[in-house]
Amino acid sequence: MNKRPEFYVRDVPVYGDVILAPMAGFADIPHRALCRSFGSALNYTEFIAVEDIIDGSKMAKSLLDFTSDDWPMVIQLFGNDAGLFLEAASRVEELGPAIIDINMGCSTRRVSGRGAGVGMMPQPGLIEETFNLLSNNLSLPVTGKIRLGWEDEINYPEVAQIMEDNGASLIAIHPRTKEQGYRGVADWDAIAELRQLVKVPVIGSGDVCSPDDIDRMLRQTGCDAVMIGRGAIGNPWVFSRVNKKCIPLKVVAETIRRHLIMMIEYHGDRGLILFRKYLKRYLDGFSVIEDYRRRMLVTESVEEFLFLLETVESAVDENT
Ligand SMILES: Cc1cc2nc3c(=O)[nH]c(=O)nc-3n(C[C@H](O)[C@H](O)[C@H](O)COP(=O)(O)O)c2cc1C
Repeated sequence: MNKRPEFYVRDVPVYGDVILAPMAGFADIPHRALCRSFGSALNYTEFIAVEDIIDGSKMAKSLLDFTSDDWPMVIQLFGNDAGLFLEAASRVEELGPAIIDINMGCSTRRVSGRGAGVGMMPQPGLIEETFNLLSNNLSLPVTGKIRLGWEDEINYPEVAQIMEDNGASLIAIHPRTKEQGYRGVADWDAIAELRQLVKVPVIGSGDVCSPDDIDRMLRQTGCDAVMIGRGAIGNPWVFSRVNKKCIPLKVVAETIRRHLIMMIEYHGDRGLILFRKYLKRYLDGFSVIEDYRRRMLVTESVEEFLFLLETVESAVDENT
């Protein structure tokens, strides 16, 4: 590759500034491979509990699965105990990812209520201990993903400073509070402020759905890269900086077939059912096919699914 890296995560070069955001339920090998093929420059696993890794749970093993061409690969952990973070991260390091990331953004009560995810943000001592321990004992770069903080304690500048002072090699921020969850508007000014504050690369996350949004976030905040989460579901074109509105149904249908085949190859019989959540998003904006959409979302037969998809394609051809 003769392209120059956009930025480095310590010594790991990243050849692009658009990245698939970690998303529980949307981070399996097929989705990551598809988004990578359209241009995602860095891929993450979804967040994985340190306790599950240490116990060797079946679920953790499947979430940790990645292929060598999905590179650079980030494995994201969550927990509330620095010693357990180190134990889990040491095991994960043996699997050969490029980077280990600490999730400090998950706002669900189940996670934040026990002091993990965004539940770490009001615990500066835990953050300091975790980043210090990991960056001094692992050979891989350690990074973190944060929010603004809690409504009564918006402390992302302090948290980011602690992370950087204790060896973090990159900070990603989804600038909403714990209480906001996914409501309201992401505060891109906070990304700009963070970019000024720390020396390590900063990734901005939140409300990026189109090539225009990518360019706007890069320009307005000066961040090193943009992460795309919800806006990338059923829309891998965004990683090539192409607006989905310009993609004809024929091309969408080809990508649906390609993604579905990848899902079936990886997940076996469950592939089609697991694909339904993507299908809804692929077909957003194509109103002509309401009845077929409904049938495609319930069928358990791949043959029937492909037949319905072809019928939709020809119906739309006739309509255009
Ligand atoms: C279904 C779903 C699952 C998510 N899971 C994770 C996760 O495992 N780890 C993480 O750091 N963020 C997770 N996020 C947050 C996203 O990475 C991202 O920061 C957020 O959705 C805002 O970006 P967007 O507007 O591009 O979706 C998740 C978001 C969604 C919608």
